Amino acid sequence: MTRTLWDSSVGKKTVMAVSGLIMLLYLVVHMFGNLKIFFGPGTFNDYAHWLRTIGEPFMHYEWTLWVIRVVLVVAVVAHATSAYQLSRRDIRARPTKYVHTRARASYATRTMRWGGVILGLFIVWHILDLTTGTVHSGGFQEGHPYQNVVDTFSTWYGNAIYIIAMLALGLHVQHGFWSAAQTLGAGSRTRDRIFKIIANALAVVLTAGFIAVPVGVMTGLVA
Ligand code: HEM
Repeated sequence: MTRTLWDSSVGKKTVMAVSGLIMLLYLVVHMFGNLKIFFGPGTFNDYAHWLRTIGEPFMHYEWTLWVIRVVLVVAVVAHATSAYQLSRRDIRARPTKYVHTRARASYATRTMRWGGVILGLFIVWHILDLTTGTVHSGGFQEGHPYQNVVDTFSTWYGNAIYIIAMLALGLHVQHGFWSAAQTLGAGSRTRDRIFKIIANALAVVLTAGFIAVPVGVMTGLVA
């Protein structure tokens, strides 16, 4: 019987790799964009406004932003669904007869699963905090993300949630990028070494770049 590519483990891993790389691209852009906060409220709020007017006059107000949002939602759903299906498959494939000797998922695999759950919860919190303002600590002001970000990082729990999530993100990206490179065909030892260096660099730059914002607010550099 021939199985479709989608049903195969390789197919699901490919979906995880491609959707992961799309989200990674978004994160690199988002991290650099966030650093504009160090140039003051004018620059940062203008940047947020520009995000909504990309492609005008061909695109209407916020249309490009909505295209990006839809692509991200599809990527998140595809990534999470494949991860869930792969881990169900992994659990089913485990020998249950010899309880004491059964193989447990590796440390890296378990870290990826927990990291994924933490990041999923973080994304929901983050959107409710800085996009809709539903759980925002101060008086949320639409169109004034600079002040909203300062409000968020003026609370201890805001800093704790974001910093813990960014550390989880670093670990997730480090191992995830490496896994994606394996799935999409790394191969030679030299190439493997290069991919490992890129994975580590991406993890460090993303984590440090994102954490710079709460640290900036906490130290009074961003106020
Ligand atoms: C310290 C770290 C971060 C800060 C300060 C930050 C800041 C922001 C701000 C201000 C917005 C609203 C932008 C606007 O309305 O113009 C936003 C939106 C968003 N951020 Fe972040 N972000 C951070 C980390 C992250 C991370 C790690 C992720 C993903 C794992 C992420 C994903 C998103 C998403 C999906 C949106 C919604 C975009 C939209 O639909 O409008 N952010 N972020």
